[in-house]
Amino acid sequence: MPLVTSKEMFKKAYEGKYAIGAFNVNNLEIIQGITDAAAELKAPLILQVSSGARKYARHGYLMKLVEAAEAETGLPICIHLDHGDDFEICKSCIDGGFTSVMIDGSKHSYDENIKLTNEVVKYAHDNGVVVEGELGKLAGIEDDVNVADDDASFTRPEEVEEFVSRTGVDSLAIAIGTSHGAYKFKPGQKPRLRFDILEEVEKRLPGYPIVLHGASSVVQDFVDIINANGGEMPDAIGIPEDMLREAASMAVCKINMDSDLRIGMTAGIREHMAKNPTHFDPRQYLAPGRDNIKTIVRHKILSVLGCDGKA
Ligand code: G3H
Ligand code: 13P
Ligand code: ZN
Repeated sequence: MPLVTSKEMFKKAYEGKYAIGAFNVNNLEIIQGITDAAAELKAPLILQVSSGARKYARHGYLMKLVEAAEAETGLPICIHLDHGDDFEICKSCIDGGFTSVMIDGSKHSYDENIKLTNEVVKYAHDNGVVVEGELGKLAGIEDDVNVADDDASFTRPEEVEEFVSRTGVDSLAIAIGTSHGAYKFKPGQKPRLRFDILEEVEKRLPGYPIVLHGASSVVQDFVDIINANGGEMPDAIGIPEDMLREAASMAVCKINMDSDLRIGMTAGIREHMAKNPTHFDPRQYLAPGRDNIKTIVRHKILSVLGCDGKA
């Protein structure tokens, strides 16, 4: 099967009350760790590339790696641009074979966001590509979208119908209290998501796929491994997995995770290097990083997403 859009995946996920994992990728080991887990569990996949990842690994290399993953596993795999921030990068990814792009106009005014998103939708749909838009602002840092805590804002449910109908977007990322990075809540703060907003959005857009960004749970075991082997990560608090599971059983069809994979990879490498300080062959330390990614993705598919056996 060639690389697919997320259209069919989301339809089934919505009806089946589960979600598809959207994992950020930027090298061979990350792609293999994710796809090996998904292949064992027969899970559909979204592999997503940020503009920083694309600059780092380069478009052509990532495309070939993802095509290789699809050819080897036969899984339905969608390759998606994460947080495209202007028309040009979306166009370049569409022209270069991506099957899905996100245009993140959340830093713009509501009207500007609609205008930009609609421009991307027109070009994407003419080329058989689907588009994710965003309404509301998540806190945290991505390459070109840096949102301070104070500037973050929840999605306003009363805007979603108009946004979706005027832009034509195929899925919508909303802000309900998740945030990017490893430090989502302050020490002592109880994690909380605005399920009331999600419910209201679901009522206003029945059957429509919603996306949750900033959804890493930050597995403390891996943070502990990093710190036991020379790292200095402060205690981190992510999104509790039961909340994500709940969201997946509602309108959320795509759950974005990157930080968890970064932490897992780093834990594997640090642990290996601390135990084997004489090693200098990258394969020796990258393999345990890749193994950790596989372990984490297996766990997400089974315990958070519920998409095992759905490929
Ligand atoms: O949401 C952002 C992703 O974690 C990608 O991060 O822009 O540092 O590649 P990045
Ligand atoms: P995390 O930082 O929580 O992994 O979120 C990743 C993300 O939203 C990518 O778009
Ligand atoms: Zn994101």
